[in-house]
Amino acid sequence: MTQKSTVKGPIGVFDSGYGGLTILRDIMKALPDYDYIYLGDNARAPYGGRSYDIVYRFTLQAVRYLFERGCHLVILACNTASAKALRTIQQNDLPMIDPDRRVLGVIRPTVEKIGEITDNGNIGIVGTSGTVRSQSYDMEIKKLYPDFNIFSQACPMWAPLVENGEADKPGADYFVKRDIELLMRQEPSIDSIILGCTHYPLLLDKIERYVPQGTKVLPQGKIVADSLADYLVRHPEMAAKCSRGGTCTYLTTENPEKFAESASVFLSTPVTAQSITLS
Ligand code: DGL
Repeated sequence: MTQKSTVKGPIGVFDSGYGGLTILRDIMKALPDYDYIYLGDNARAPYGGRSYDIVYRFTLQAVRYLFERGCHLVILACNTASAKALRTIQQNDLPMIDPDRRVLGVIRPTVEKIGEITDNGNIGIVGTSGTVRSQSYDMEIKKLYPDFNIFSQACPMWAPLVENGEADKPGADYFVKRDIELLMRQEPSIDSIILGCTHYPLLLDKIERYVPQGTKVLPQGKIVADSLADYLVRHPEMAAKCSRGGTCTYLTTENPEKFAESASVFLSTPVTAQSITLS
């Protein structure tokens, strides 16, 4: 059981690996004064092909760990974890662990935005096999926009390409082109594509190369950052529990030097990382 705490703590940002950095970067841009802890479970990434039970178990371990490190608020900067673990953690675990702490995901804020983006209501979703199979986007979109048509394409190779440092290599083109074509073949008039995996903005150049002209591509970073800023305004009691020193601590379950090197390139600022173990 996590101790109840009145001590202010950083905002936790969790992903299976590097993908959540695409969210963290925009969150830190929008809310630079807060302190953050980023945790990437790189040793066990990718999560995309894993079962519900495993994704739930790994995500809960990460959330508990971040609570132990003093976070009152944790963002699951991972669609797979948001799809497969968030609801159970919110409904079953948080009341037992500490009902005053909060865990938020990335799917709902993304869906809320899509109505402003699309012109014809034909929405494409690209995501991990786990996210696509969960139908979380379909369900959330139908709740808000019952008339929209949703077309999903699992892209099981994209996150592994990012985790293995292949995102900017020519080999990645094959998979990106193939999966975009498979999506567009389902409905050529799709006018907006949600990047429903936080790893995918790291492939954005290639994705935009193969998406038909005029089709909008929607990364989640800014959407989630704006939604968090709005949440903190609407929940001043939570904002008051989040410390403000403008720092970020980077944690990985894999090799910290390798993580720091990749993260520094992506964030365009030198970072150091520490290795931790989740259990
Ligand atoms: N970045 C994650 C997501 O948004 C997970 C990718 C993976 O680990 O397969 O779904």
